[in-house]
Amino acid sequence: MQHPVLQEESSIIILIVQFMLFEGTITADTFDNRITRLFGIKYPIIQAGMIWASGWRLAAAVSRAGGLGIIGAGSMYPDILRENIQKYKQACDQPFAVNLPLLYPDIEQLVCIIIEEKVPIVFTSAGNPKTWTAKLKEKGITVVHVVSSAKFAKKCEDAGVDAVVAEGFEAGGHNGREETTTLCLIPNVRQAINIPLIAAGGIATGRAMYAMMALGAEGVQMGSRFVCTEEASSHRAFKEAVVAAHEGDTVLALKQLTPVRLIKNAFYQKVHEAETKGADVTELEALLGHRRAKLGMFEGNMEEGELEIGQVSSIINDIKPAGDVVKEVWEEFTETAAHPFKY
Ligand SMILES: Cc1cc2nc3c(=O)[nH]c(=O)nc-3n(C[C@H](O)[C@H](O)[C@H](O)COP(=O)(O)O)c2cc1C
Repeated sequence: MQHPVLQEESSIIILIVQFMLFEGTITADTFDNRITRLFGIKYPIIQAGMIWASGWRLAAAVSRAGGLGIIGAGSMYPDILRENIQKYKQACDQPFAVNLPLLYPDIEQLVCIIIEEKVPIVFTSAGNPKTWTAKLKEKGITVVHVVSSAKFAKKCEDAGVDAVVAEGFEAGGHNGREETTTLCLIPNVRQAINIPLIAAGGIATGRAMYAMMALGAEGVQMGSRFVCTEEASSHRAFKEAVVAAHEGDTVLALKQLTPVRLIKNAFYQKVHEAETKGADVTELEALLGHRRAKLGMFEGNMEEGELEIGQVSSIINDIKPAGDVVKEVWEEFTETAAHPFKY
């Protein structure tokens, strides 16, 4: 039995933790806040939608572990998306989402599939949230939009989305032009909106999750960490390159087109040389071509491919089952909540 004074201390700690976690209530093995309620999940840990990485296998592994798995439609033809949704449903009965980059050429077809297949949640990105939110919500779908500024977060709230992902400039994949870091972005967005807020960019541990929740986020979305899992469809060579990456090995490139954070490889060097010589958008588009991302991240060409990954790659040291990532992040989060200053 615990000493009465210790018991009192523990209750005070629990109260403080509850206060700090933005309406969240933490218990031994679950969490209750607006994000877990909105998605019907156990932990507010979201696996990002990622081209060439997040198919049904990864999404199902994450959702089975109590997080939210997302199928990334950005690298899928419509029939491949349908197949992924159907395979997910056969593998797992937990909630899941589809990430839909809105500038995708087959967008209308993809939206039809999402509606026909009764996908419960959609994370839209790279486009105007006004275009599709009302139509998706009419069909009972929960809509979340990804932003990189407080101004755009407010526009999303006005467009009627249910929640926002605010993604800082350390993130893997396409980034905002303002280059706002997650640490600065989250408090700004928190002040700008009242709807639930998910933090993304540079998060791979429970400690980072705790820091984001202390800044006003109600959940976290992790991309790079989930690339390095057994279930991600990324090429093994890409996963190993991410594990091997050190501080300073990624860079925000192609700012004239769409800024994207990449590992510095031979392809990046060509982009860098072209940009230094003053290449225009047409020249950069020609250099990028159509298959660079697939070539690198899916087919494993580490020199000529486009390798999208975040700064947090420098602290990712292993490839493991996605369920273990969810479990470890959650355990470290609760441990940090109980002892925030113990390291
Ligand atoms: C390999 C890779 C592919 C990505 N593809 C997409 C995508 O298709 N759509 C999207 O909205 N975001 C995409 N992102 C961004 C992620 O959804 C996520 O917000 C980001 O990875 C979070 O930052 P982190 O990598 O530091 O965890 C991608 C990120 C990575 C690493």
